[in-house]
Amino acid sequence: MMSFEVRPLSPVIGAEVVGLDLGGPVDDATFAALRAAWFEAGGLLVFKEQSLAPQAQVEFSRRFGDLEVHVAKRYLLPGHPEIYRVSTKKDAQGKAVGNPESGRYWHSDLSYLEPPAMASLLYALEVPPMGGDTLFANMAAAYDALSPPIRTMLSSMTAVHDYAHVLRLFSHGVRAHVGPGTLPSVRHPVVRPHQETGRATLYVNPGFTTHIEGLARHESDAVLNMLFEHAVRPEFVYRHRWSVGDAVLWDNRSTMHHAVHDFYGTGGVRHMHRTTIMGTAQ
Ligand SMILES: [Fe+2]
Repeated sequence: MMSFEVRPLSPVIGAEVVGLDLGGPVDDATFAALRAAWFEAGGLLVFKEQSLAPQAQVEFSRRFGDLEVHVAKRYLLPGHPEIYRVSTKKDAQGKAVGNPESGRYWHSDLSYLEPPAMASLLYALEVPPMGGDTLFANMAAAYDALSPPIRTMLSSMTAVHDYAHVLRLFSHGVRAHVGPGTLPSVRHPVVRPHQETGRATLYVNPGFTTHIEGLARHESDAVLNMLFEHAVRPEFVYRHRWSVGDAVLWDNRSTMHHAVHDFYGTGGVRHMHRTTIMGTAQ
């Protein structure tokens, strides 16, 4: 077993892991300790000063489960379809090499699939001199802070998630990667027990959750807006300032995230490789 140090980044979400090279061998005992630290940190770990070749990122990510090949095919890394490029870089023809608009709204990756994504690992190859941070919210802590009558009300509710939702919401900025109706909508309980910790977790997000089943539209909007506002209160959120070499691992079952697109027009470039670990049925 290799030793590493865990330094909390906030009281509620996030920890930095110091002393572990993700590109090198990680034995089973160390990997188990890492997973435990991940859950302890609310589902968010930061590894700094990493040097992760695409194949090494794919191999480390595979330790958690099968990898997703994203629906937006043109942003996949040639030769490594498991790597989805999140990037503001352009190729020689002036075409974007990765998704430049990725995630500038609160969401949980692939909540529009059944089962949704387990985790994502985002590795920074280039970062702007300023801006381009990512915010992460702890959805289990947000759930715990709700009053008991609200928790009871939510416990019987099911929400609908749809990839096209965000395209409708942000149609000025987010291009349709897939045609409407390409992906059918899916249903998830509003409160999902975490598969590994058993902890009750809010599982709705502004990016992909369209409505709560059985409610009138105005009721559904009111409940969802209340939950979205509540979940991203500052005390549930950690804001990550990226450095080149950062690898950030988040649990999509218990967190939401939001990319801050404040660096456009500053000349800064943000170029990252994401792997996404598929979830398993609840
Ligand atoms: Fe995302």
